[in-house]
Amino acid sequence: MIPIDLADWLQQHLREGQAVNRQLHELLLQAVLQGRLAAGSKLPSSRWLAQQLGVSRNTVIDAYDNLRAQGCLDTRQGSGSYVAEVEREAPQLPPKPGRPKEAPALSKRGRLLLEQAGVSARQWGAFMPGVPDVTEFPVRTWLRLHNRRWREAQPERLSYAPGGGLPALRDALAEHLRGARSVQCTAEQIIVTSGSHQAVDLVARLLTDPGDTVWLEEPCYWGLRSTLQSLDLNLVAQAVDSEGLRWPTRPRGAMPRLVLATPSHQYPLGMVMSLARRQHLLEQCRSHGSWIVEDDYDSEFRFGTRPVASLQGLDGGDRVLYVGSFSKTLFPGLRLGYLVVPASLAPLFAKASAELYREGQLQQQATLADFIQQGHLGSHTRRMRTLYGRRREALLAAVHEQFGAQLPVLGDNAGLHLVLQLPADTDDCALETAAAAAGIAVRALSRYYSRPASVQRGLLLGYACVPEHKIGPAFQTLAGVIRQHCPHLATRKRS
Ligand SMILES: Cc1ncc(COP(=O)(O)O)c(C=O)c1O
Repeated sequence: MIPIDLADWLQQHLREGQAVNRQLHELLLQAVLQGRLAAGSKLPSSRWLAQQLGVSRNTVIDAYDNLRAQGCLDTRQGSGSYVAEVEREAPQLPPKPGRPKEAPALSKRGRLLLEQAGVSARQWGAFMPGVPDVTEFPVRTWLRLHNRRWREAQPERLSYAPGGGLPALRDALAEHLRGARSVQCTAEQIIVTSGSHQAVDLVARLLTDPGDTVWLEEPCYWGLRSTLQSLDLNLVAQAVDSEGLRWPTRPRGAMPRLVLATPSHQYPLGMVMSLARRQHLLEQCRSHGSWIVEDDYDSEFRFGTRPVASLQGLDGGDRVLYVGSFSKTLFPGLRLGYLVVPASLAPLFAKASAELYREGQLQQQATLADFIQQGHLGSHTRRMRTLYGRRREALLAAVHEQFGAQLPVLGDNAGLHLVLQLPADTDDCALETAAAAAGIAVRALSRYYSRPASVQRGLLLGYACVPEHKIGPAFQTLAGVIRQHCPHLATRKRS
């Protein structure tokens, strides 16, 4: 392949939403192994290729360096990089973008879903983001309440749930949300779901049609993006800045049917949406007939500042569908969450959720209602806030100890994770893989972006499920991996 063909071929196969460095390396490796790049042929200069692909030169240098380390490239002093003699695979066409080889029968939306799947097999340990300390869950209290419910089990509690969920839980939730989150609602407006994923699925199924435009924050939580992606919607990423989601001055394309936002704690970067932005968002959505899905996933955990009231409360409950979950406050495996919908939609949502999901788990829902009403949710959340606050301090101290002010930390004043920013030329996905090999679970920040042009590099570090005494040693291990991937970071001099 001559350079111009190579650049074209790469351009065609680079996919949005995935780290460019890694893709570039994989594609070049594929081209070498399949003989598309013949042994002895000269690769274009990193500067030229970077210009053609619209990526940074370091991205290309990184890919070349990786190939060189694998013995696929030879460098001739002063003359450039040449493809080395390697054992080749039988020639075969590269898979077309969007068509995984092993699953040819999948639908387009099935393929889209799986291509961008982000779910990790590991869900525990330093520094798994977003996971609460489930070992602190008050099991004895829960068992006591649960056993009592089983002793008095009524036959209808062992059947399917009524549309919207168990009335006792909807009552308890309405009261809790009015007090804790300034949500304006009655119990009838609450739809109990099996977590935020199902809540967003229900909203999208009832309020959008395939092909409708949905705005997401850039970056955003991949899990909810996948849920929407699988419904064949036109997902458009909108930038966030220090005040949260920015309504573009001159929006391009169709106006959104839905806008999915995290106003209380932008996921994953952590800023709070300003009042001015909230009002502007509500005004725009009213004038365009768009719905806002407010994902309020972890606002119970704020350190040093008071929780910010919900956007739903500001709106009065007309435009906003409010989504919450017990995945962070209790434990993710409970699979219980809720949706608060405008009063006019409430009976329709209740009916549709029963029709679609045929929910059950009423004994669990009854136990949760008691748990909330008897004050256990409040006391558990307060206790965990103190515990997580200490773990957050320990992680911040470990970062400072290792890197001083060299690596900025974002979003550390709330939630269960913080973001460690890395130099723009770092391959954070490769770092994630290397950290996993060293026994440390982190997530690359670039995975949360869908447009290569806006990608920032960093790592999401969850501190909630790591005992305080393990944070320093675990971060020390991670710091070693970070230094290998960011060699130009200065070694910190201790004062
Ligand atoms: C931004 C965001 N929203 C929602 C959730 C929770 O989803 P679910 O309630 O389905 O567990 C998560 C979990 O990590 C999250 O990060």
